[in-house]
Amino acid sequence: MEQYAIKGGNPLVGEVEIGGAKNAALAILAAAAMTDETVVIENMPDVRDINVLIQAMESIGVVVNRIDRHSVKINGSQIHSLVIEDDYIKKIRASYYLLGALLGKYKKAEVTLPGGCNIGSRPIDQHIKGFRALGADVCIEHGLIHAQAEKLVGSHIYLDVVSVGATINVMMAAVMAEGKTIIENAAKEPHVVDLANFLNSMGANIKGAGTDVIRIKGVSRLHGTEYVIIPDQIEAGTFMFAAAVTHGDITVKNVIPKHLESISAKLLEIGCEIKESDDAVRVVSAKTLKHTHVKTLPYPGFPTDMQPQIAVALGLSEGTSMVTESIFENRFKYVDELTRMGANVKVEGNTAFIEGVSKYTGATITAPDLRAGAALVIAALAAEGVTVVDEIKYIERGYEDFDLKLQTLGAQIEKVETDRDLQKFKLKVG
Ligand code: EPZ
Repeated sequence: MEQYAIKGGNPLVGEVEIGGAKNAALAILAAAAMTDETVVIENMPDVRDINVLIQAMESIGVVVNRIDRHSVKINGSQIHSLVIEDDYIKKIRASYYLLGALLGKYKKAEVTLPGGCNIGSRPIDQHIKGFRALGADVCIEHGLIHAQAEKLVGSHIYLDVVSVGATINVMMAAVMAEGKTIIENAAKEPHVVDLANFLNSMGANIKGAGTDVIRIKGVSRLHGTEYVIIPDQIEAGTFMFAAAVTHGDITVKNVIPKHLESISAKLLEIGCEIKESDDAVRVVSAKTLKHTHVKTLPYPGFPTDMQPQIAVALGLSEGTSMVTESIFENRFKYVDELTRMGANVKVEGNTAFIEGVSKYTGATITAPDLRAGAALVIAALAAEGVTVVDEIKYIERGYEDFDLKLQTLGAQIEKVETDRDLQKFKLKVG
């Protein structure tokens, strides 16, 4: 089993190029199957979640040709099955975007009901509410969701919770419905906007994405397009916090600074310097870090996907900080691991109370999920001594070449597989 071996203590310095947004790419890939014409997608991140979704799409007859590592050509004209197998859903929840995409295109789809996952129970009632409002019969039997409609008809849908997934799934189902759909209380995340822009480039008529109200006028068909995915806000934010925690100086390049505002604001509050240019943000961490409070919220609030990373930084900040998780109930699983590295954190309900310590120390720890795993790597980069991170497969779901990008910033991190590899690493780093 692969692990990361990390020797902490080096300030990370330099420039890092941010890849395409995983969560935009997942939605856009599924939506690309909604036309029979060829779609070319660029800036596709080469990460495990994306590659699993591509396999799920190939399993139903979508033809996917890789042009290069970050560009794919998709053709959905030969889809022969509207059933997404259990295996794919087990590996990646976002396969359920094919439900909205196939229902929109063929008025029928069948997908295994995703279960809970490491970060929470994750219901999909709002997706189903939206499909039903568009006129689909949706039933759940034997662990499968069947959705079917003679025709989909535009509707006025009020989402009870702000949900990225439901907004995306309902938007895809509605683009080829008859008449007008209004989605109220829609999610405003950059990836929702990116999907809307992508669908519009295929001939859809979507207005208001990025606000609470999305208005869609149904069209009878979608056509081929060429599209470049936006940069990954969370990958960028993770490197920005790596700069903060290691007292480094990192410029994240190929980003949209506007998407990073809530992250930059918190870094400023804890004592970092931020310099923005058109498509880059530089984070300099020269002073002692200060405490702050943060609550995760839907965009433009502070993202839940950055909660473990900020907590790692606050663990090394002077004073007491409070981190409140308001999106997913199970996103503090990393706290026990961080405690093994010397952090002083107490979780009560959905709030972590963090008493800053002067240093972390290396330990053998396990990545509990994608973002928490990345956060623990950052903690290890700041820690005294060697840390070994297990279960890095979670991190590889969403970060491309994480270890290599960190190495270019001066980090001592390597992927190891055996005890021998680990001993070699320890000898090398001294
Ligand atoms: C998306 O998950 C992201 N995944 C997550 O990123 C991210 O953490 C999350 O949005 C929040 O920003 C993808 O984009 C593939 P939600 P999603 O529906 O769509 C409740 C990562 O690390 N809810 O916005 O599943 C839900 O329980 C991942 O990259 C309902 O009650 O999140 C949660 O409390 C992990 N009913 C809240 O809404 C529903 O029908 C927000 O969830 C749907 C959601």
